[in-house]
Amino acid sequence: MTWLITGGAGYIGAHVARAMAEAGERVVVLDDLSTGIPERLPQDVPLVTGSTLDRQVLDRTLAEHGVTGVVHLAAKKQVAESVEQPLMYYRENIHGLEVLLGACAAAGVKHFVFSSSAAVYGMPDVDLVTEDTPCLPINPYGETKLAGEWLVRAAGKAYGMGTTCLRYFNVAGAARPELADVGVFNLVPMVFEKLDAGEPPMVFGADYPTPDGTCIRDYIHVRDIASAHLAAARRLAGGATGDLTVNIGRGEGVSVTEMVQRICAVTGHEDVQPKVLDRRPGDPARVVASAARIREELGWSAQYDVDEMIDSAWAGWRARHDA
Ligand code: WQD
Repeated sequence: MTWLITGGAGYIGAHVARAMAEAGERVVVLDDLSTGIPERLPQDVPLVTGSTLDRQVLDRTLAEHGVTGVVHLAAKKQVAESVEQPLMYYRENIHGLEVLLGACAAAGVKHFVFSSSAAVYGMPDVDLVTEDTPCLPINPYGETKLAGEWLVRAAGKAYGMGTTCLRYFNVAGAARPELADVGVFNLVPMVFEKLDAGEPPMVFGADYPTPDGTCIRDYIHVRDIASAHLAAARRLAGGATGDLTVNIGRGEGVSVTEMVQRICAVTGHEDVQPKVLDRRPGDPARVVASAARIREELGWSAQYDVDEMIDSAWAGWRARHDA
């Protein structure tokens, strides 16, 4: 059994690659290094530099490494950028997936794990989002993740691959400082950046219909995301057929105000007061996972809390910014 991990030099991909390798799985990484960092990978994990749009590289990699299963994380993932450059998002996330699935079918790959997102749900109007909550994405990024799931399920059915779609909620934290997210596109690093600049963290809207008026999300440690991939891969390798779609979340909502307070407390900025700004367009009031199905199907549940996410993300931030 050898697993190809696409996007394995990225923030989440490197956590997945390491967790699977440390658990004794044979893994090979494919990454175009557009945002990936080779040093995130241990020496003994082979890295092929290339794109999922390149069928030749795919054919060669699958054959040379005897790949029997794929964990596909390589994708573009910035919502705002997807609104400005939808064609790039459809090319990378959909065409790239279509080429990869074609290579998998030709090579007889039997297992496929797909990195999806809570963005498929759009603006869900429910307390807990289950996998049966209607999928109504509101930006091209979310559209490509939803259409990607359709492609994965259809290809799995047609070519006899067991497939699993993992819908990540709000990922944060790092297993070690050098694996931390280097992008400043999400709440946790955006607050870090403000704190470092001596400026107040921003709260985008405090007039939402939530208890404290700020948006509620389900934050999940990237180590938990990685262990969920390992569980999904092992379930497929153990003979599971058909398709499975599961949320990866803690099932616990945390508001922006609570999150900013925890970040200030954990990083020693107790006296800082955030600044409330207008709502950011396209933000749903509340997105919290039901984690029931993943517990039943994969026997998985989250192990890390919000303070551990913040603490480990801060260690990564400090390592980069104090250097
Ligand atoms: C969280 C909350 C902001 C910064 C996005 C994508 C989603 C997924 C994860 C990939 C929101 C608020 C933020 C700040 C703030 N991506 N905020 N001040 O928007 O829930 O999800 O990333 O799969 O598809 O949409 O995450 O971290 O950007 O924001 O008040 O400085 O924090 O408005 O309510 P989001 P986020």
